[in-house]
Amino acid sequence: MTSEKLLEFLNKAIARELQVSIQYMWQHIQVTSLDGAVVEGIFRQIAIAEMKHAERLAERLDYLDGVPTVTPDPIFVGGSLLEMLKQDEHDEEESILLYKQAIQAAAKEGDYTTRRLLEEILAEEETHINTFGKLLVGMTEPFTQPGISGVE
Ligand SMILES: [Fe+2]
Ligand SMILES: [Fe+2]
Repeated sequence: MTSEKLLEFLNKAIARELQVSIQYMWQHIQVTSLDGAVVEGIFRQIAIAEMKHAERLAERLDYLDGVPTVTPDPIFVGGSLLEMLKQDEHDEEESILLYKQAIQAAAKEGDYTTRRLLEEILAEEETHINTFGKLLVGMTEPFTQPGISGVE
């Protein structure tokens, strides 16, 4: 019998996955300029990965007789590319913390299948934070702000 706590962790993770999948997809659509053109494909790729995470977690939750949430955590869109990347890096950091806690909860009650699923997703979140962190290296605010070229 799965604890309420673990079911809650799975739903928290689903809410977060829904948030970031929409967030990254909209960032993919909304980024502008040359630097935006370079990274928009990366946003899209990670958005799709997050949607697959939501699906896998929902499948597991359903198997455990839980009901997957349809409500995402608050979605952050807009702003400069620098702001987007900082937000995304922060969100990945929080996801990593959440998955680590959920893994401990799953292990504690001997649910090794859920634990393995969470560990697989955690490993992917670590690649995401690495990607966002690398994109942030050397970025400065003026580079991403409109009008810096003096055109406006
Ligand atoms: Fe994810
Ligand atoms: Fe992620």
